[in-house]
Amino acid sequence: MQKNKVRKAVIPVAGFGTRLFPATKVVKKELFPIIDRDGRAKPVILAIIEEAISAGITEVGIVAQPDDKEIFENLLKNPLKKEFFDNLSPQNQEYSRYLEDLGSRITILLQEEQLGYGHAVFCAKDWVQDEPFLLMLGDHIYASDIAKSCASQVLNVYTQANQSVVSLTTKPAEILHTAGCVTGVWQELNSIIEVTQLYEKPTIEYAQQHLRVEGMAENEFLCIFGLYLLTPKIFDFLAEHINQNFRERGEFQLTYCLDKLCQEEGMTGYVVKGKCFDTGLPDAYRQTMIDFRNL
Ligand code: UTP
Repeated sequence: MQKNKVRKAVIPVAGFGTRLFPATKVVKKELFPIIDRDGRAKPVILAIIEEAISAGITEVGIVAQPDDKEIFENLLKNPLKKEFFDNLSPQNQEYSRYLEDLGSRITILLQEEQLGYGHAVFCAKDWVQDEPFLLMLGDHIYASDIAKSCASQVLNVYTQANQSVVSLTTKPAEILHTAGCVTGVWQELNSIIEVTQLYEKPTIEYAQQHLRVEGMAENEFLCIFGLYLLTPKIFDFLAEHINQNFRERGEFQLTYCLDKLCQEEGMTGYVVKGKCFDTGLPDAYRQTMIDFRNL
């Protein structure tokens, strides 16, 4: 097998989704419906899986809570009841068959305790093994501005750079307290950057002092877009964090380990030609429902 060929994607979906309570008491946020650009009502997770497949990914690992295993299996691995299938339109019957085929590429992994995003990623270690992998948030969907999908763009950059890639987008200073932020040195202006530091939710003062990027407006910064292409070395840093019980806001986070990965192996940042839509907050979800279909 080619060493840097990317076959696997990991999607953590084991969070509680507290910001969408009480809906998330009964429906996982990753199963909320969106209307995709093909006009189908899809659970968010399916749109994310299709984004991965569009980039040539052949195996998808979904990190779920043990209690939710069945519901994800039901959607992604079990065939539809015959009576239900028989009542579908021919187009939806075809889609249902395609879904069954997709199911064979999906593995449900478990996060026994909800100890944070970084911890959920760590739960995929044994499944990923010694390969680079695409990491995707379970509550973000993507729309490319060009023919190549967003995930596909990120994979391409990885193939060229041969080191971990973090996808980026430009954001105003006012939202930095909600985002992971990156700085570095442009290799291709406004497109590809050699990352020198990643920092989670900086204050504006910290960002202005340490995270400014040459050529960008004073109140604009590079923020994490939500797609990552990571080497398996990330698991060493996550393991270190977990073993040392190094928590941020009570949870094992990813960004600090990404920064360590960057310092040790180098990391390329890529400003994606596309848009990222958040589905993890009430108003963001509402806006995504409106805008995503209209692109
Ligand atoms: P979030 O930061 O959105 O956390 O997780 P959350 O718990 O899902 O939602 P809120 O903040 O309580 O509203 C980012 C991604 O990581 C997953 C989530 O399912 C989401 O896709 N995650 C988070 C896990 O898999 N396990 C965790 O312990 C935490």
